[in-house]
Amino acid sequence: MTQILDGKALAGKIREELKQEVQQLSKSGVTPSLTVILVGEDPASQVYVRNKERAATEVGIHSNVIRLSEETTQEELLEYVNILNHDVSVHGILVQLPLPKHIDTDAVLEAIVPEKDVDGFHPVNLGKLLQKDESIVPCTPQGIMEFFKEYNIDLIGKEMVIIGQSTIVGRPMALLGLNHGATVTVCHSRTKNLEQVAKRADILISAVGKAGLITKDFVKEGAVVIDVGINCNEAGKLCGDVDFEEVAPLTSAITPVPGGVGPMTIAMLLAQTVKNAKSKKE
Ligand code: GUN
Repeated sequence: MTQILDGKALAGKIREELKQEVQQLSKSGVTPSLTVILVGEDPASQVYVRNKERAATEVGIHSNVIRLSEETTQEELLEYVNILNHDVSVHGILVQLPLPKHIDTDAVLEAIVPEKDVDGFHPVNLGKLLQKDESIVPCTPQGIMEFFKEYNIDLIGKEMVIIGQSTIVGRPMALLGLNHGATVTVCHSRTKNLEQVAKRADILISAVGKAGLITKDFVKEGAVVIDVGINCNEAGKLCGDVDFEEVAPLTSAITPVPGGVGPMTIAMLLAQTVKNAKSKKE
């Protein structure tokens, strides 16, 4: 039987727990606070940022969004980051990606102090992850790990195949998989015989951004399939990378889109903000 990994429900549970934690923290004088910087008018980013803002407010996190024009210079953006770095009331800083082309994304991410880097994209935090220190980990892979924990999916000795090598998902996911005992393969656009490689997976994670990429030919019977894709199909409907109807019956567990990985990513961002506020207090 196929288990549907219900991200909406699990994220709801985590948010409820965070709400209690935020209440306790606020009572003791520390209200967790998150600032998001959004540069430009990218429509998807606008939606993501609104969702993050709403979710933060719902659990009692103080949320602030700095909206800057497309013409903002790198220097100006770095100055905003610098001010937030020094603001003791701010526990989390998130610069929404992608940034306009004239801005050096790496330089901006590196400018955020690692303790406030709720995205886990700072080289220090990525380096720590490489050394098995998982104190600040990118939100999407962290959300995927929460699924494994909640649904008792053991990684030890499992073949984990990740499709996509981004710094946001594929690469940190590979490190988490390794840290937790999986045998990890990372595939990308140059990978030969993708179908055969994917078919080896006990745990298949697709983070490509191509609707319908993963058909039944990519999936071994009984595999766990995690769909990180956010796409629109021909009918304009939100869908992942996986052809859910075709693939789900083959799997032992699968995430739907929507209602799978997406809500978990936001829940992890909130959790990281609360964790930072707590560690500041200690
Ligand atoms: N753009 C798409 N996903 C993300 C994310 O997780 N964090 C940030 N900062 N930007 C994104």
